[in-house]
Amino acid sequence: MSKITEEEIKKILPLKGPSFEEVKKYLDKYNEEYIIIKCGGSVLVDQNLLNNFINDISVLNKLGFIPIVIHGGGKRISNKLNDSGIKSNFINGLRVTDEKSITIVEEVLINFNEEITEALKKNSNLPVTVKHRIGVDENDSYTHLNKFVQTLSLAGADRFIVHARKALLKGLNPKENRTIPPLRYDIVKKLKEENPKLLIEINGGLTSVKQCANALETFDGVMIGRSAYKHPLRWSPIDEEFYGERRKVIKASEIILKLIPYIEDHLRETGSSWEICKHLINLVESIPNAKKWRHNITSKSISKELKIKDLINSAKDLENIGH
Ligand SMILES: Cc1cc2nc3c(=O)[nH]c(=O)nc-3n(C[C@H](O)[C@H](O)[C@H](O)COP(=O)(O)O)c2cc1C
Repeated sequence: MSKITEEEIKKILPLKGPSFEEVKKYLDKYNEEYIIIKCGGSVLVDQNLLNNFINDISVLNKLGFIPIVIHGGGKRISNKLNDSGIKSNFINGLRVTDEKSITIVEEVLINFNEEITEALKKNSNLPVTVKHRIGVDENDSYTHLNKFVQTLSLAGADRFIVHARKALLKGLNPKENRTIPPLRYDIVKKLKEENPKLLIEINGGLTSVKQCANALETFDGVMIGRSAYKHPLRWSPIDEEFYGERRKVIKASEIILKLIPYIEDHLRETGSSWEICKHLINLVESIPNAKKWRHNITSKSISKELKIKDLINSAKDLENIGH
């Protein structure tokens, strides 16, 4: 149920927009949900469309949704490539980005980022965070990184989350790109030292609460990616450590038992439990036979032999040893 009053909602809705009654049903259903919006490049080349789009995002945010925008840029990239006399090759509708075009693509997309940031700041009071790496392929100089961050900051970006690796788009896949390029915390540190007023968060390779506490001596925030997923319970002391909230001891068995009704519904609807189980097996670690426990649930769940009562019993086994 939406927490904002009818009166407030009516004030937020645009004059020529949908009625309160129409909006209300979606509000109740999707409030506080993430909404991912893929914005075609054509929106970004038309100033009126862009303003309307940014206004709509602002309205969604005020109504309590969390919009995330993923933008394209094909049209403007094509225009710029044409102006520069570079011909694009398309295979099955997908552009082949060769060495010559990548510089143009980068330039156009940095401009886009700047324009979206500016438009968001002008049309709403949304905070703007930019997540990026320290470089891409041969564009990995510190000067380039510094210029990127300063340009976006001038356009109004409030916060930067910097993954301390460069990305090698030529030759490495996304998974390899998260392990092979070396972590260069020193470069992000230099960025923060030279831009002390900017809010800069560090990301990449942090795997413990202690490492985060150390990083917070230099940076304004820390972002944890894979470790939060791989070792969820390792992070349970974090609220107590950083926000002084009393630590709630959360046990794997407790979480799994609470998820049972949800898994039961999913199993009834789809005949499979793996879509949920694959995200909870990582709760079980650092106890004797943890690997065996995970393997048992994984193999039964994948082969669709896992019964709800098996899962309850396996969670009870954990409960009995205090996990
Ligand atoms: C499965 C997966 C999906 C990811 N998707 C995104 C994404 O959509 N956007 C993004 O900025 N980073 C994404 N990342 C990268 C993470 O946000 C983070 O930058 C990266 O994992 C490095 O941090 P870590 O070493 O703490 O994992 C993804 C990572 C993984 C493992």
